Amino acid sequence: MTAQLNPRGDVAVLVPAAGAGVRLGPGAPKALRLLAGEPLLVHAVRRIAAAPSVHTIVVAAPAADVESVRAMLGAVAPVTVVPGGAERQASVAAALAAVPVGPEIVLVHDAARALTPPELVESVAAAVRDGHDAVIPVLPVVDTIKEVDAAERVLGTVDRSALRAVQTPQGFRRSVLVAAHRSAGDALTDDAGLVEKQGGAVTCVPGSELALKITRPFDLALAEHLLTTGA
Ligand code: CTP
Ligand code: MG
Repeated sequence: MTAQLNPRGDVAVLVPAAGAGVRLGPGAPKALRLLAGEPLLVHAVRRIAAAPSVHTIVVAAPAADVESVRAMLGAVAPVTVVPGGAERQASVAAALAAVPVGPEIVLVHDAARALTPPELVESVAAAVRDGHDAVIPVLPVVDTIKEVDAAERVLGTVDRSALRAVQTPQGFRRSVLVAAHRSAGDALTDDAGLVEKQGGAVTCVPGSELALKITRPFDLALAEHLLTTGA
């Protein structure tokens, strides 16, 4: 059944899904790999569409798969599908350019975080609505972190109490994200990093274990297990 989005919603969600998935191993582009019989992108979009504030979803798909992704997602939710770029940032920029007039909150969410619950989409959007220009979901870092040199010699132990692991969706006041992308000079940073470079404030909200990024085969196995136990 196709979900309905909220025509009175104030949130657009960009879903970069154009990556190859090299670290997952040989096969289809990562967003199209199956998790419990359905592509990762279908899991991701279904959960985004279940968030009540969402007005628009724009997916950046692998250029060769735009038509098939459009057909595949047609049964899940009303989405706009655009061709992605060579880097994640180019894919986000392509999706951002396709957001219609209306939504003043824009979230950027990796297709690879396929099990992200709708509640996280809502809490990030709510923090932007409350007046924060840029919002990121984070988790505390659990491992001890060492800084090393090129020879893997330990230089020191980093105080992990001041560190956070960053997830998506990252949320922005629309004008802030547009300005950050317009001046983007560093293709390697995340979207919040672009805002930081502009001198903008970025605020943290609690993330979710379920928003894990499926990167390696182990993550796919973990996600499969989480789905069978109710995620
Ligand atoms: N992404 C994208 N366009 C790119 C590269 C990445 O839209 N040119 C998307 C991916 O599809 C993914 C998200 O950005 O949803 C996060 O990237 P990552 O987890 O690194 O995915 P891949 O780049 O596909 O994986 P890998 O780096 O292992 O190849
Ligand atoms: Mg990548």
